[in-house]
Amino acid sequence: MEPVDLAVTALHASVDDPALNSMNFLNEVAQHYPDAVSLAAGRPYEEFFDSAVLHEHLDAFRRHLADDLGLSPAQVDRTLLQYGRTKGIVHHLIARNLAVDEQLTVDPEAIVVTVGCQEAMFLVLRALRAGPRDVLLAVAPTYVGLTGAARLVDLPVRPVTGGPDGIDLADLRDQVHRTRAEGLRPRACYVMPDFANPSGVRMDLAQRRRLLDLAAEEDLLLIEDNPYGLFPAADAERLPTLKALDTRRRVVYLGSFAKTVLPGARVGYVVADQRVAGSDGTVGPLADQLAKIKSMVTVNTSPISQAVIGGALLAHDCSLVAANVRERAAYARNLRHLVDGLARRFPAGGPVRWNVPAGGFFVVVTVPFAVDDALLHRSARGYGVLWTPMAHFYDAGTPVNALRLSVSAVTPEQIDLGLDRLAALITEESAGTVGTAVSARTAP
Ligand SMILES: Cc1ncc(COP(=O)(O)O)c(C=O)c1O
Repeated sequence: MEPVDLAVTALHASVDDPALNSMNFLNEVAQHYPDAVSLAAGRPYEEFFDSAVLHEHLDAFRRHLADDLGLSPAQVDRTLLQYGRTKGIVHHLIARNLAVDEQLTVDPEAIVVTVGCQEAMFLVLRALRAGPRDVLLAVAPTYVGLTGAARLVDLPVRPVTGGPDGIDLADLRDQVHRTRAEGLRPRACYVMPDFANPSGVRMDLAQRRRLLDLAAEEDLLLIEDNPYGLFPAADAERLPTLKALDTRRRVVYLGSFAKTVLPGARVGYVVADQRVAGSDGTVGPLADQLAKIKSMVTVNTSPISQAVIGGALLAHDCSLVAANVRERAAYARNLRHLVDGLARRFPAGGPVRWNVPAGGFFVVVTVPFAVDDALLHRSARGYGVLWTPMAHFYDAGTPVNALRLSVSAVTPEQIDLGLDRLAALITEESAGTVGTAVSARTAP
């Protein structure tokens, strides 16, 4: 046996937690089977990538600093090349983007530009976790990045039933009451109202309003995560974000440019306009407190990356709806293709079922057997198709009879091939489970 210097049990408990292993595990499976069709990856479509536009975006942002903001050449260079403002340098353009695309009026000072949405999650959860009685509520199934970030700050996550409406409000109220009755403090509830990852479900307008009312009645914050809102299916309308409907500062809003501009820039943001009373008697936005945490985690988000995003925003008058016309069409086409392909391969009323999301990247397929990591390996090795076990999005150890398919990084031809292979796997597995009781739960 190799000599060891440290036991993992001597490190923070999060490093040995399944939530933190999930992304690595899925990446490793994908790397191990490079020829498999991946209906697993939630990455954006690469056909539209073009590194030549990076220079155009950088130039556009430099011109903006000089011409629109009146910076001297030395100040422009300093802004791009030096350590910078902790809350970011494209906050004003993000505020404009939210006004243009979401009809949302936001004070730029309430925005912190982060290293991806992932850092925004971490900052918010770090700030909210004030003591051992604090817990986070989150709609289940939940994005694994949120669960992992909560583990890093020792914030327990309590699941709230999601269901076909996006969130079961009776269960949310129940969880809030039960948590408080136990002497604990529910600090916030994490929700993805638009085409959630992994469920694909979205909340309708009435449900959004009811959720905001409940949050006000129960004195609860909502953390709204919205990376997929710009991608409704062809015939679907976009709906207002919770934040756009929020008149009581109940919503902390998380944004990501990974799907709407490019993931390699690693730029996201948080809108945190909640008023915080400081110990010195001053009052300012929660964003200022998050910035203090950020200053000790990443200091500031790379100004070069921010400039690329800023230039991309400027290229379309700050409208990402306008910037993503091709992308929206491709994702909508793929979603339709996947759902139609499932219908052709599995009979209606049979044991294999799926939801038909109104947009986004993901579809959940329910099957008559438990789906685990071992099955994913068998699928990759024996059938050449990758997908994500839904168990990754629930509390560790809960078997789930479902898998997540993603349409974002594939062509229609790859979808056809992947579905043929998936159908072969499901037929084989179903034959193996005929007559056996299936006790795992179904999702979503
Ligand atoms: C729901 C959700 N939130 C956040 C993210 C991460 O965003 P970013 O790449 O900006 O960190 C993802 C990425 O897949 C996601 O699905």
